[in-house]
Amino acid sequence: MASKCKSKICNPPEQEIKVTQGTPEVTQGTPEVTPEIVAACQELVLDNDKLQTYMTTFLDNIERGLKKETHDDAVVKCIPTYVQDLPNGTETGKFLALDLGGSNFRVLIITLDGKECDMQSKVYSISHEVMQGPGEELFDFIATCLAEYAVEQGVADATLPLGFTFSFPLIQKGLTVGVLERWTKGFSCEGVIGNDVVQMLKAAIDRRGDVKIDVCAVLNDTTGTLMSCAWKNNDTRIGLIVGTGTNGCYVEKQANVELFDEPDRGSGNVIVNLEWGAFGDDGGLDFCRVQYDRDVDARSINPGKQLHEKMISGMYMGEMVRLAAERFTKEGYMFGGKGSEQLFTPDAFETRFVSDIEADAPGTYNNVKQICNDLGLADATEQDYVNLRYLCACISRRAAHLVSAGLTVLIRKVGEKKVAVGIDGTVYKNHPNFHNLMMEKIKELIEPEYEFSLMLSEDGSGRGAALVAAVAARVAAQG
Ligand code: BGC
Repeated sequence: MASKCKSKICNPPEQEIKVTQGTPEVTQGTPEVTPEIVAACQELVLDNDKLQTYMTTFLDNIERGLKKETHDDAVVKCIPTYVQDLPNGTETGKFLALDLGGSNFRVLIITLDGKECDMQSKVYSISHEVMQGPGEELFDFIATCLAEYAVEQGVADATLPLGFTFSFPLIQKGLTVGVLERWTKGFSCEGVIGNDVVQMLKAAIDRRGDVKIDVCAVLNDTTGTLMSCAWKNNDTRIGLIVGTGTNGCYVEKQANVELFDEPDRGSGNVIVNLEWGAFGDDGGLDFCRVQYDRDVDARSINPGKQLHEKMISGMYMGEMVRLAAERFTKEGYMFGGKGSEQLFTPDAFETRFVSDIEADAPGTYNNVKQICNDLGLADATEQDYVNLRYLCACISRRAAHLVSAGLTVLIRKVGEKKVAVGIDGTVYKNHPNFHNLMMEKIKELIEPEYEFSLMLSEDGSGRGAALVAAVAARVAAQG
């Protein structure tokens, strides 16, 4: 599937939603949520006291990640990215970009021309076997896609500069050196952890011998998202992903980033990749984790790891709702106490169902009804629909509030009065209330002197890769 799109950075449409501090509101005129379910879901409500505890702990985690003395034991790694300059909108050139971060892999050709950006791309889906097979095969697959696409687009002989968006925790030793610290999001390819993924890519390309590349940057999707947003908005200082996985990055003073060992440390800024998905891996979030979190974690391929991510991101959100629905069915409060085979099948309730169900207008049940039918729950009643929607809202709202508390810490940490946050990811983009829930909650948590905006920064992993490469070239040319 090739796509051509002009750059587009905009805010999601404002929507009228009710936001309350406690549990989601029930629309008048529909059956009330079953009281036993409301009571049991109280544990999913993060009031502002709990969010304060979260914020204090998170800030402490960031400080520990940034300092040499505490870094090794810190779970929030705060990795310096070596991206020191933001785009100024004058970047030009033609670039290749590779985007690996989930079950879809993309190859892109990006042309930057001042304020315009033209992108051509092709998406390849990565099979389960490749995601969990030998590392060399993963890189051979990437090299094959790249070669095929370069030939298709007539750029195979051009040696274009290439930006490699690799959205897993990479310990960076330079703009073109990234050593994989661990896999996340269902990947577990052997032989990659501890190795430089740029070298692995180059080796795979050499094995083929039919394309030439010039890797100018390896980056995280959060960095790409920040750069992509900064290209349009000078106030951008934070990048955030709420998709299959979740993570954030922000612009920090080099003086505070003790692991950043460039000779000139101290003079400017550098983007820090927080790897906030790992927050809580040392027990720091135990005060607000619940049984569904523990179950999701226990059944994952990386138990005990990425606990913050598992409370928030799209890879786990649907399953969390399913676990809650399974519980309340077995307790006799939903689906006639009977349920269905699908309802009791792990991962059968997809995260997109959460967005679809919450997108039903108040008092209407089109999506929820369809989803129940597809899940073998054709006998579901209006009461079941209301209850299921409530479970979706409790879990998505908790995720939005956790992200908001994290962003509040980052906005304060950036320390500027006006901060724009570039955001991408399927949960943020597709969920009907996520943006508004975040706006409301951050306004509640942050001091009024901070002015912030949350901007959808689509396609940061592609355009951002080109921008990192382009900015590096511009700065190098300036000497
Ligand atoms: C990875 C991050 C990435 C995030 C969003 C997490 O699982 O560790 O590097 O930025 O997912 O894609």
